[in-house]
Amino acid sequence: MRFVLSTALLFGQSVLAHYKWPALILDDVATPDYEYVRLNTNNINPIMDINSTDMRCNQGGLDSGPQTSTATVVAGDTIGFTLSNSISHIGPVVVYMAQAPGNPSDWDGSGEVFFKINEWGPDFSTGTIEWPQLGVMSYSFKVPPSVPDGYYLIRIEHIAVHNAANYGGCQFFIACGQVKVTGGGSGTPGPLVAFPGAYQSTDPGILFNDYYPPPTSYVIPGPPVWFE
Ligand SMILES: *[C@@H]1O[C@H](CO)[C@@H](O)[C@H](O)[C@H]1NC(C)=O
Repeated sequence: MRFVLSTALLFGQSVLAHYKWPALILDDVATPDYEYVRLNTNNINPIMDINSTDMRCNQGGLDSGPQTSTATVVAGDTIGFTLSNSISHIGPVVVYMAQAPGNPSDWDGSGEVFFKINEWGPDFSTGTIEWPQLGVMSYSFKVPPSVPDGYYLIRIEHIAVHNAANYGGCQFFIACGQVKVTGGGSGTPGPLVAFPGAYQSTDPGILFNDYYPPPTSYVIPGPPVWFE
């Protein structure tokens, strides 16, 4: 009986061991939770409706801009996001930016405005698919050196594909930070995509079977990474 109970508890914990991205990392230091990242209302749970506006900045993320500060970052610098719990599902990490017309706190990020700046997929170097994302507690990436100065939403997501062989089974762990870029360049970021809209439930990286037959490739969802 005791064994059954503890098994149930363990199982419950593994189901609960999702994760969220609460803070920006600036100059290698984690900033306070939700100072520069928009607060979400679904705790550590994923978004699963690929057509929902929650795909943009997580649940609640379109309402929490006014309470969120905007961090100044220098183009070319490495910044990141913290995780509340380590990544416990297989799948890629993807980062986008979108230029706000003004104060990013007041902006909903609608329309075809997001460009991809970074992606981290699986490793096939051993001959089988492996996901080095498992266990990480943060993710860092470079702000593109030639991105124009201005205000941006910066959107990170982990796309969990452990159940993605089932239509609609993909899980999206999303957050939006608010940044002001200085020292930027004169690049023209693109391709620009909308959230929702950038992903379809049948995209090869979203309707995806990691198990059988063993995959020999993986197509990270969304447009190519922009770099100039
Ligand atoms: C999402 O929207 C697209 C385009 O309207 C539609 O084809 C698709 O069935 C929708 N997906 C879901 C899961 O509702």
